[in-house]
Amino acid sequence: MRETVHVPLGARAYDVVIGPGLMEEAGTLIAPLLPRPRVAVVTEKRVAALHLAALENGLGAAGIDCVALELPPGESTKSWTHLAQVTEWLLDQKIERRDVVVALGGGVIGDLVGFACAILRRGVRFVQVPTSLLAQVDSSVGGKTGINTAQGKNLAGAFHQPSLVLADTDVLASLGPRDFLAGYGEVMKYGLLGDATFFAWLEENAQAMAAGDVALRVAAVKRSVEMKADIVTRDETEQGDRALLNLGHTFCHALEAATGYSDRLLHGEGVAIGCGLAFELSARLGLCSQEDPSRVRAHIKAMGMKADLADIPGDLPDAAGVLDLMGQDKKVVAGTLNFILARGIGEAFVTSDVPRDAVMAVLEDALTAR
Ligand code: GLY
Repeated sequence: MRETVHVPLGARAYDVVIGPGLMEEAGTLIAPLLPRPRVAVVTEKRVAALHLAALENGLGAAGIDCVALELPPGESTKSWTHLAQVTEWLLDQKIERRDVVVALGGGVIGDLVGFACAILRRGVRFVQVPTSLLAQVDSSVGGKTGINTAQGKNLAGAFHQPSLVLADTDVLASLGPRDFLAGYGEVMKYGLLGDATFFAWLEENAQAMAAGDVALRVAAVKRSVEMKADIVTRDETEQGDRALLNLGHTFCHALEAATGYSDRLLHGEGVAIGCGLAFELSARLGLCSQEDPSRVRAHIKAMGMKADLADIPGDLPDAAGVLDLMGQDKKVVAGTLNFILARGIGEAFVTSDVPRDAVMAVLEDALTAR
């Protein structure tokens, strides 16, 4: 049941290995990268309690020694303070230019450790071992690394591709249902942005996948990673097509800001709601059929996820307030909001040509339905 997706980025090419049981084999899989049998692992405490021993055993089975740093869990770890801590710890551990660092965790750890590796000795290699569904299908692949600053999320960072990604689908069993489904928001996004057949497959299979079917999980992660690899290969540094990966994200980032980046709305939940709104906007602009937004929302609901603004607990700003928050998104170019719209399911495109009134109307109606 093991799958490998190659990311063909020339000198920065690498494999994403997907399947059950990869922790046990981590040593064998990582060994070909190592100049000496030693790695440094950076993780966070919650993930360490669940998976660090398995990874250490897998490395040990191939004769690889490891030292490990456990950071606090949570988004606030993506900070200058922890970037300095990780970088200096790696130096203290005498990690040399040709050594390899392993990032074990979700998106926070992957982004932080990737950034530390980008700057450590002007760049050391790292292996991503993503432990959330979101990290397996999105953040561990494609080389975006970074931290949050006082001014906003992901505002300091670097493109630094991993040398290998090990997406062990067994670890997904340790996720709570809400976190799994939040990650699913990003899986669904791939079907919506570029593969109608995959979206139809998800409509058929995603409930069984969420319930635990391993073969379906491997297939869904593989197709998501293939699509991400394809887009990243076309546009590594987001000059164009890579922005397609932000389908639903302009609405999502505004809603995350409006809810204070709290557990009122997880990122993947915001992506799912945002995809529904992006299709609603596309339908109103006459770009796609009226049925498409209903189909998107029906699938989100069928998965038991938040589908509408009404599903977000607590108060939200009015439409003008949400629109203002959209304007603060970092994808604003010269004051114009870049949107990802769709001509149909699987047919997303990037545009900056979106009338403000149309966005206001979609938001007003969505907020009135609360
Ligand atoms: N998560 C969006 C990207 O990697 O470009």
